[in-house]
Amino acid sequence: MANVVVVGAQWGDEGKGKIVDWLSERADVIARFQGGHNAGHTLVIGNQVFKLSLLPSGIVRKGKLAVIGNGVVLDPWALFSEIDKLAAQGVSVGPENLMIAENTPLILPLHQDLDRLREDAAGKAKIGTTGRGIGPAYEDKVGRRTIRVADLADPETLSARIDRLLAHHDPLRQGLGAPAIDRAELEAKLTEIAPKLLAFAQPVWKVLGEMRKAGKRILFEGAQGSLLDIDFGTYPYVTSSTTMSGMAATGTGLGPSAIGFVLGIVKAYTTRVGEGPFPTELTDEVGQRLGERGHEFGTVTGRKRRCGWFDAVLVRQTCAISGVNGIALTKLDVLDGFDTLKICTGYEIDGRHYDYLPTAAALQARVTPVYEEMEGWKESTQGARSWADLPAAAIKYVRRIEELIHCPVALLSTSPERDDTILVTDPFAD
Ligand code: GDP
Ligand code: IMO
Ligand code: MG
Repeated sequence: MANVVVVGAQWGDEGKGKIVDWLSERADVIARFQGGHNAGHTLVIGNQVFKLSLLPSGIVRKGKLAVIGNGVVLDPWALFSEIDKLAAQGVSVGPENLMIAENTPLILPLHQDLDRLREDAAGKAKIGTTGRGIGPAYEDKVGRRTIRVADLADPETLSARIDRLLAHHDPLRQGLGAPAIDRAELEAKLTEIAPKLLAFAQPVWKVLGEMRKAGKRILFEGAQGSLLDIDFGTYPYVTSSTTMSGMAATGTGLGPSAIGFVLGIVKAYTTRVGEGPFPTELTDEVGQRLGERGHEFGTVTGRKRRCGWFDAVLVRQTCAISGVNGIALTKLDVLDGFDTLKICTGYEIDGRHYDYLPTAAALQARVTPVYEEMEGWKESTQGARSWADLPAAAIKYVRRIEELIHCPVALLSTSPERDDTILVTDPFAD
C-alpha cells in the first residue's frame, strides 16, 4: 500500500491544505514533517473555513491520527492557541488524535525576538520572514543547544538546557541591543506548559513504524514549497528547513522506503510571499488581476502575495528534485476569462539559454523568462468536478503543463471547496 508525501512545488501556498484534507479521507495517519507555524493551510468545507498552521490538515476529520514529527519546530503556545481555535469550530484535539514526537525542538519567544531583531537590522536585505522564529529555532537545533519536547519531563535537564541556550542567546541579544532573557520567567513558562505538551509526546518513529507494518496508510503533509528549500530554494530567500520529499522520512523517523508516491502541489500560475527572485513576476494589471481573482493574501501574515505566470522551468526542476510522481494542479479557475495565458518555458541570461534556474544569485537576478503564449478560455471552470466539464482550451493548458514539467496531473482543483476536486490517478493506489 502506497504512502503519500505531499510537497509544495513552488514558493508555498499552492493549496496543500485543501489537497491534504481531500486525500486524508483515504489515509489513517496524517503527519507534518518540517516547518512550523510559518505555514498557513486553508480548508474550506461547506460553510466552514479552517486555517491551520501547525496541526496537520487531517485533524478536522474524525477517526484520523494527526502527527507532528521531529522535523517540525514547535511553538507550544501557538499549538495550544490553534487547538483552542479549532475547539471553537467544533473540532476537538487531544492525545487520542494528535501525537507529537518526543524529539521535536521547541520554538521559544526568544526565537521570535531574534527573527524580528535580525529582520529589522537587515533593512533592505531582509528575507521577509513570517516572524515566527523558524530560522533561529532550526539554528539552535543544528547548534545542539535546543530544548526538545522530552527535555520538559525532567526539571534538571530542562534547567541545564536553558543555561546552554542562554549562554548563546544573551550575547547575541546584547549585540542587537535587546535585553537579556529573564531566565526565571522562561523556566516558569516552560514548567507550566510541560505537562500539557507531554501528554501528546510519543516515540513517533516507533508508533508510525508499527502502524506501517499493520498496513495503515500514512499521508505526509509538507509545508512551504520547494523553492523555499534551504538547499535547493532561492537562497538566502528561503525558509530554514528541507521542504523536499526526502524530509518526510527523516522528519518522522521512517526510512525512505516508507514513501510510495510523491504528490507535488502546483498552482496553475505562480505566487511568492516575501523577498527574493521571481522570474515570471507581473507587477502590471495582469499580476493584479491574478492576485484579486486568486485572493492572494498570506494566511499567516496577511501580506499581499506577488503573482506571475506559470513557470514550467521551476516546476520541472522541483519535481525532479523531489521525485514527484504526479501533481495536483490547483486554482485553474483563477485563469478563467483571460484572452491569452503565458507559460515560461526557459530563461535567457546574458544571451545564453537555460532550461533550469542556475544557483548563483547574480545570475538569478538577471533572468529573462522565455514565454510561450496559449489561448485562454471564456467559460467558467470554477467548481468543475470532471474533465468533461472543462473547456478545450483549459485542457490544452493543463496538457501543455504536464508536457513541460515531465510529470502527469493526478488531481485537479477548481475552487477552494473540498469537493471541487477532480481525481485522475489515486496517489494511494499501488
Ligand atoms: P497552502 O499553504 O499550500 O495550504 O495554501 P494556502 O491555503 O495558503 O493558499 C491557497 C489558497 O487558495 C487558500 O485560500 C485555498 O482555499 C485556495 N484554494 C485552494 N485550491 C483552490 C482552487 O482550486 N481554486 C481557488 N480559487 N482557490 C483555491
Ligand atoms: P505554506 O505552508 C509561503 C516564506 C516567508 C519568507 C520565507 C522565510 O503556507 O505554503 P520563515 O518565516 O519561514 O523564516 O520565512 O519563507 N514562507 C512561506 N511562503 N507559504 C508558506 O507556508 C511559507 N512559510 C514561509 O514569506 O519569504
Ligand atoms: Mg499557505
